[in-house]
Amino acid sequence: RAMSTSAIQQKEIRNITVIGAGLMGAGIAQVAAQAQLKVTLVDTTDKALENGRTIITNSIKRVAKKKHPEDQAKQQEYIDAAFQNISTTTDSKQAAKDADLIVEAIVENIKVKQQLFKDLDAAAPEHTIFCSNTSSLSVTEIAKATSDKRRQQFAGLHFFNPVPAMKLVEIVRTEELQDTVFDQLAEVTKKIGKTPVSCKDTPGFIVNRLLVPYMLEAFRILDRGEASPQDVDTAMKLGAGMPMGPIELADFVGLDTMKFIADGWRETGGIEPSLVTPVKVLDDLVAEGRLGRKSGKGFYDYTKK
Ligand code: 3HC
Repeated sequence: RAMSTSAIQQKEIRNITVIGAGLMGAGIAQVAAQAQLKVTLVDTTDKALENGRTIITNSIKRVAKKKHPEDQAKQQEYIDAAFQNISTTTDSKQAAKDADLIVEAIVENIKVKQQLFKDLDAAAPEHTIFCSNTSSLSVTEIAKATSDKRRQQFAGLHFFNPVPAMKLVEIVRTEELQDTVFDQLAEVTKKIGKTPVSCKDTPGFIVNRLLVPYMLEAFRILDRGEASPQDVDTAMKLGAGMPMGPIELADFVGLDTMKFIADGWRETGGIEPSLVTPVKVLDDLVAEGRLGRKSGKGFYDYTKK
């Protein structure tokens, strides 16, 4: 139909609504606010929003210190200026109304994301671009909850943890995404100080497609008793120039997240099955509630430091 193929009038992206005030959402809100974009951060409870503000405060202090190493007044000015660009709300539909761009960073559950985007589609103006920060689900599947027109303005916008420090954003192109929308997303990505790469909507996109099988193989080295976690990490840091070894990185990402991604890909396919076969040590740690840094223990013990 002519209607669904006609280009939608695009506006410059000034207002960004970020849904989800966890580690990723807070990080995205922070870097957008630091770049003088107007940000509305949304979560379901005031407690979650307060937690998001705390995450931003802790991180932005480091950024401000780096920008103005000798000048505490300037540091505070920088922090205040960024916070002036951030408002918070629990009303996602209201927050959608002035958004040029919506970035979703909520729980990795396809049904929950689809319901959210369905509601947002009804509430947001026609020009609003929709993005998901999903790292393991299909963007095309999530976008199915929205209208024909919206799907042409629906992409993956995948940031990396810790968002303020990691310079990459993967822009995930679905079959339906319009080139003009892609260009706008590339532009706004650069504006917030990140480097965009373009990739198709496949399991793990680029980074996780390579990183997850590599980390799983590192766990298998442990399972087979071939090396200690410390030696695997030292080897990859000093022998391959990685900033973190695969075992400490897994603890950083969260072992439940690692397992969730591997299990999910085994189910949905689209990746060589032998790359994501279950690993005993990972399954055992998750079953014990040892989820990595966030739970105090994972492969390593963080409670002693
Ligand atoms: N907020 C603000 N700035 C931060 C920060 C934060 N939370 N964390 C680190 N930084 C900045 C520091 O200020 C510092 O900046 P500078 O180099 O300009 O002075 C820089 O980042 C390095 O930090 P540190 O010196 O404190 O520490 P390290 O050198 O050990 O770096 C690290 C920390 C950036 C986390 C580094 O270890 C690293 O890059 N690790 C790998 C992280 C990674 O691979 N992330 C991807 C995970 S996969 C993922 O996210 C996908 C998901 O979907 C599963």
